[in-house]
Amino acid sequence: MFSRLMICGVALLLMAVQARAETIEDKVQVCTACHGENGKPVDKTIPTIWGQQAGYLYIQLRDFKRGDRKSEIMQPIAAQFERDDMLAIAEYFSQKPWPDLGQPRAPKDVAEKAVSASRSVGCPACHLDRFQGDGTVPRLAGMGRDYLAKTIADFRTRARGNNPGMSDLMLATSPDDLAALVDYLAGL
Ligand code: HEC
Ligand code: HEC
Repeated sequence: MFSRLMICGVALLLMAVQARAETIEDKVQVCTACHGENGKPVDKTIPTIWGQQAGYLYIQLRDFKRGDRKSEIMQPIAAQFERDDMLAIAEYFSQKPWPDLGQPRAPKDVAEKAVSASRSVGCPACHLDRFQGDGTVPRLAGMGRDYLAKTIADFRTRARGNNPGMSDLMLATSPDDLAALVDYLAGL
């Protein structure tokens, strides 16, 4: 009787230890399959999350979970997390170094077109002068070219509907200027 209780006790204790032992590294293990072992996404349409702003990362995970930002891939992943997990995961990735994807700098004429469009729309007012972002505003400098093009297109069709203000801005900017901005931002 006594030894049975002991075994039960030990089993419970082990379970408690295991539950507590699920570290942040365990939680983010699954992310590396797509967002990359070393921060370089495995596919060009997948965004860089290493070194991204923590506030922004948290809001995206929250929006995926709520379904405000639709993604068949990210929705079920984010759905497993509670607020505290999402805050911790956002903090964890924000502390990592931003990876160099080795994308070419935009040619001079494209860069000039992009800078002038960005000044007239006022992108740096929010994304800052070097497009490094801040808080809930994302870094864009050196982001994968194909992902940038995709997410800008998604803002324009409102397929990405979690920030109507960004959709309005993208719709107010000509496709030509946006194409130049994508090349420019990817090459920063
Ligand atoms: C099976 C592949 C896959 C896995 C695994 C995965 N992601 Fe993603 N993730 C994506 C794709 C694809 C997108 C882009 C979704 C879109 O815009 O349609 C994305 C987008 C994101 C974004 C938005 C980034 C931005 O710049 O807007 C965040 C944040 C994110 N993922 C975090 C995570 C975290 C944290 C994990 C692990 C817990 C994870 N992802 C696991 C594929 C994946
Ligand atoms: C008024 C502030 C503001 C201005 C101006 C602005 N942005 Fe944004 N941008 C944001 C915020 C905030 C987000 C994050 C939206 C969200 O939470 O999904 C964002 C998101 C983005 C994203 C998505 C990044 C990712 O990782 O998915 C891109 C791309 C982007 N902006 C490009 C631009 C460009 C290009 C311009 C200028 C033409 C611009 N933005 C102007 C505030 C702004």
